[in-house]
Amino acid sequence: MTLGIVTVSYIGASILFILALGGLSNQETARRGNLYGMLGMLIALLAAIFGVVSANYVILLGGMAIGGTIGLILARKVEMTQMPELVAILHSLVGLAAVLVGYANFLGHDASITGIDKTIHDVETYLGILIGAVTFSGSIIAFGKLSGKIGGKPLLLPGRHWMNLTLLILSLWLCFSFVEQSAMGEGLSPLVWMTVIALLFGIHMVMAIGGADMPVVVSMLNSYSGWAAAATGFMLNNDLLIVVGALVGSSGAILSYIMCRAMNRKFLSVIAGGFGTSEGSVVSGGSEQVGEVIAIEAEETAALLLESKEIMIIPGYGMAVAQAQHTVNEITKTLKDKNINVRFGIHPVAGRMPGHMNVLLAEAKVPYDIVFEMDEINEDFPNIDVSIVIGANDIVNPSAQDEPNSPIAGMPVLEVWKGKTTIVLKRSMASGYAGVDNPLFYKENTRMLFGDAKQSLDAVLKAITS
Ligand code: TAP
Repeated sequence: MTLGIVTVSYIGASILFILALGGLSNQETARRGNLYGMLGMLIALLAAIFGVVSANYVILLGGMAIGGTIGLILARKVEMTQMPELVAILHSLVGLAAVLVGYANFLGHDASITGIDKTIHDVETYLGILIGAVTFSGSIIAFGKLSGKIGGKPLLLPGRHWMNLTLLILSLWLCFSFVEQSAMGEGLSPLVWMTVIALLFGIHMVMAIGGADMPVVVSMLNSYSGWAAAATGFMLNNDLLIVVGALVGSSGAILSYIMCRAMNRKFLSVIAGGFGTSEGSVVSGGSEQVGEVIAIEAEETAALLLESKEIMIIPGYGMAVAQAQHTVNEITKTLKDKNINVRFGIHPVAGRMPGHMNVLLAEAKVPYDIVFEMDEINEDFPNIDVSIVIGANDIVNPSAQDEPNSPIAGMPVLEVWKGKTTIVLKRSMASGYAGVDNPLFYKENTRMLFGDAKQSLDAVLKAITS
């Protein structure tokens, strides 16, 4: 394959990756976006295999077969709720690849690069390994936390910010030392020291972050993995890797920013760590809770729904856990057939990853035109007869507005309590991911339908169809 064909293939693949990102920003075009991404990756792989690689085809194809098989098995096996941890472990592989390619490149000594070009090349190698190592160890810890193998509680070492600063200064100093020594044909020792420091930094950075902030961290590590790939692209003189790395790096950074805004958290305070526990604790109805909890049964819920004209469904993480989305769709269809207006209100951080609820609703074939973003429907609650909150908690917590000292103070929430009646489906009085009490459960117009969301909704469906 000539260089010209490789370049054209790379440009084509880059355009397809950009189209893929554009497609993924909307659920109606997401499937097409995925197809663009797959096609772009196929073209990139073919161009690299036939246009760039010139030897060791057996090793290459063997590696691809092993990697491809592992990827296929994992993708088929993974549950939707395990997606963030799968993404975390995949990022660790990108980081590891950047480290290994960096070392191979350094040890391979390309004697044709000299002078300022050599200095630039060395800095690229150094940065690729540095970002790759932070991404690798940070992502392993993120995987451990998300999968519950490591506790979600933040590890807050005394003087940790100073420790981070010292590690940063040390890495800068090692960079100078590496470039200097590399000019004389050496430099392995500062490179190894920097790798150890970067690995420790990645572990420390993610250990200090609480469970509630982990999805932001995963998206941030996604961004790092992109920058590591871009640095590797500079090092290898590979334009496609630079473009794709920059795309992943910047989209990950934008996503982290959007998530932080939706949770009313400052990006820097997320990185500084300390907020959020691993699991919800059972709320006893503590000092600030006044009033009592009013339970409701499935039959009464069905009767209330059938009497309504306007219904809003608010799905949350519990709907994903219970896999209740198909029953939700059946109920929606039944109610719409009875001329009842049913809509969905989606909070930007409902569930455990961006777009979590949209994906589940799309899977159950809920029509897109009745699914609304929080900002589009938050004003409508005073006109709603019944809001059904399915396994959601933090995203409908009024203390975000009423209690300035609450850990979630200032986070935008769905104002369900302004509607006539709210029915909350959950198994117990346990708190949500942020670990805070929810006064919504004690309001006069709130009814609690206790139990697994799927079982409760199956019973409701039976009652409205009989
Ligand atoms: P949560 O506040 O975590 O509440 C989920 C509720 O679902 C829990 O209170 C739990 O109560 C209930 N539940 C669990 N399994 C259930 C089942 N099988 N049946 C019925 N209920 C079940 O979820 P949310 O309201 O979706 O809020 C998301 C949280 O994650 C926010 O704090 C958000 O900041 C955080 N977060 C999300 C993201 C993204 S990108 N989505 C990113 C960062 C952080 P029981 O145990 O009593 O059943």
